[in-house]
Parts: sequence; structure tokens; C-alpha cells
Amino acid sequence: MSKRLLSLCSLVMVIAVVVGSFAPAARAQEDLSGEVEIFSWWAGSEGPALEALIALFNEQYPNVEVINATVAGGSGTAAKAVLKTRMEGGEPPDAFQAHAGQELIGTWVAADRMEDLTFLFEEQGWLDVFPEGLVDLISTDEGIWSVPVNIHRSNVLWYVPANLETWGVEVPATWDDFLAVCPTIQEAGVTPLVLGFAWTVYHLWENIAVGVLGPEGWNGIWTGETDLMGEDFLKVWDTFGKVLECSNFGEDNETMEWDKAIDRVVDGTAAFNVMGDWAAGYLTTTRELVPGEGFGYAPAPGTDGTFIMLSDSFGLPLGAPNRDNAIAWLTVLGSKEGQDAFNPLKGSIPARTDADVTNPELYNAYLQSAAADWATDTIVGSLWHGAAANEQFTGNFGGVVDLFTASGAPEAAAAAFVELCSTSGACGG
Ligand code: GAL
Repeated sequence: MSKRLLSLCSLVMVIAVVVGSFAPAARAQEDLSGEVEIFSWWAGSEGPALEALIALFNEQYPNVEVINATVAGGSGTAAKAVLKTRMEGGEPPDAFQAHAGQELIGTWVAADRMEDLTFLFEEQGWLDVFPEGLVDLISTDEGIWSVPVNIHRSNVLWYVPANLETWGVEVPATWDDFLAVCPTIQEAGVTPLVLGFAWTVYHLWENIAVGVLGPEGWNGIWTGETDLMGEDFLKVWDTFGKVLECSNFGEDNETMEWDKAIDRVVDGTAAFNVMGDWAAGYLTTTRELVPGEGFGYAPAPGTDGTFIMLSDSFGLPLGAPNRDNAIAWLTVLGSKEGQDAFNPLKGSIPARTDADVTNPELYNAYLQSAAADWATDTIVGSLWHGAAANEQFTGNFGGVVDLFTASGAPEAAAAAFVELCSTSGACGG
């Protein structure tokens, strides 16, 4: 999904929006009081960026109390289950976190449970400041469904430069390079690649798939153009299996959330970890390490020049108990000030194109490099983090990976993948 490709659809949508909606405007700051319940999975080491945003909201809306409802758990697997129960039970929060893309559109938008935010985009002038491709990702013909707060990158390889030097290991440019260096790292008594809970294994899979297939082959999965029983796709599974053998998969990975896996890289018991750049937020904000010194970063093997994107956004459920306050919350997180408060701590870059990303006081070297890559790389959508496929696919994808890890058979996994494509309708064709 290149930014360029998406721009045409967005133009059509922008015209529709301008002609479009007359929903009521957000209320003035001084009128607002009471509560606003914000639902997300940003707790613990994921908390500081959200807290900065809440502090900004408190400054602007001193009479509104924020109820910070979080359900901890990386990539929101636990939070999404709780949200489902609440939505189905008629008890929506005032605003909730969801990834830009099919994660929200294929679920709560499709079920007619969200409010169209076109009016807010018009009122705030956001159609001029959010990238067209991103607006397209959060839109359908019927409306715009959430407010993006950031752009995260899924395909980053994390390591400690001094440790690699000690072990005489270079940063691998491809998965074959990684596999070649794996025995050297193992001989040093170190885990070559550290994984955490199951979702981090699925996250690794998308990185390997993009690394092996390239951006076109990856996009072709979702348009139906990539042959899912073909040689290249079988190579994805084969490579995935070999990489798992160079990891702690099946040993202690199920004991660790993603940040604990990153800790293993920092303490030198593991060489590499593949994780989204919330890891940069953790390493700088919580661990207080300096990018390029305390930790190093590179595109995941085989993905140089490609940016696997995802975007955290918040939507407004129909029937939100404190609708006006929720709109105020959305206004703050979509503002330039809001994005510049949140992103430097989160490890993400602002979704807005006019945020202060070149300011080194705010955005560290890692974030500046991510912003530069975002501007020039080929952009594709993350599967696991909601951008590339619908929730029916994503929710069942783990079963395909589990089948592979149990059988070790690329053909069986590819066939199960094809079957899931067909039941979910996620793969075009
Ligand atoms: C992603 C989310 C990130 C971060 C990560 C780890 O899905 O977009 O903001 O929270 O999960 O939990």
C-alpha cells in the first residue's frame, strides 16, 4: 500500500467529505466537565506516552476527569477481548484505541457501532495535515472512523552495538545472513534471536514474509496476486522455521512480554530482537538508553527500503456516555501539540505531517531516522497490528502459525493460510 497508490482514493474521499457531514461541532473547553473514560492497552512500560497526553488534556480541560482504563498486554490481545465484551454488553468506553485499518473498519464500523468523525476532521482542518494514504486507511465511503495519534514501524531489528563487537558479529542484512551468523552467536552461549509471547512470534512472521517476498509480494498476498502455494511463499515458511531454530522459541519465550524480551538483548543474553519501534520508546523513556549507543537499530533483515507501518488511533463508539468529553479527547490527540507530547515518549513518529519531528530536543536520533525512512521508503501495512487484513484473518492467523510450528511443514501451513484467506475474504481475488 504505497502512499502514492492511496492518494487517489483519498482525493475522492476528501471531495465526499467536503460535500458531506453536518454533525455537531466539539464544545468549548470551559463548558466541559465530568468524566471521560479512555480505553487502551498502554499500561506499565507502555504508559508514559499516554500519561503525557492525559496531562496535556488535563491542562486544556481542567474540569474533566480522565478515567484511564487500560487492559495490559502487548499488541492489545487482552484489551480487544475486554472491549468486545463491553461493546456487546452495551457498555462502551468514551473512546478506545484501535489500529488504523481493517481492525476497526472490519469490526465495529461494519457492525455500525462507531460514530463518523468526518465533522471533526473538517472542523480541525485535519484533512490538510494527515497523510492522504493514512486518511484512506481509516475511512470508508460512509465516513472517517478514528483519529490517528502516531505512525509505528513494525520492521526493526534491535541489538546492542558493543555486544555485537564483542561476539564479532555484523548486523545481518538478510535472513540468510542471520542464519549464517547464528552458530557463532550460539557458540558464545547467547540466544541469537529472542522472542516473547505468541503474538511476538506472529510479529516475527510478518517481518520474515516481507523480508523474503519484498513489498510487492507482501501486498500481493492481500490483493490475491501472490501465489500462496508458490515457491516464494513456501520459502517464507521455510525461513521462518529456520529462524525459530535460532531463537528461544519453545524454551522460555512464553514467559515474556515484548519488553522483557528486549531486556534480554540489553543484558547481553540475546543478540537480536525483532519488534516494532515501541521498543525505542521503552529503551529511551524507561531504560533511559541513548539510540545508537545503548542500543542499535536496523531494518529487519531483507526489509531495507521498506517501512511496515501501523498507526494507533482512537475511535468514538456510538452511545459513548460522555460524548462531548470524548470529542475533546480526540481533538487533543489529533492536535500538533498532542502528537508532539505523545510520540517522543512512545517511540513513534507523529501521524501529522506538520509536527515538530526535525526538532532534536523532542525527537531523538532513532525517531529522526524513522521519520526520514517514512518519507522515502516503500510503505506496506502490518498484518498483526491491524493495517493489512481484517480482524477475522488476524484473529485466526495464530492458528496457522501454530500449525506450522507443530508440523514443521511449509506446504501444510501455506494450505491453511489459503483456507483462512478464503474464509475471511482478506486476500482479494
Ligand atoms: C501495538 C501498538 C503499539 C504498542 C504495541 C505493543 O499493537 O500499536 O502502540 O502498544 O502494540 O503493545
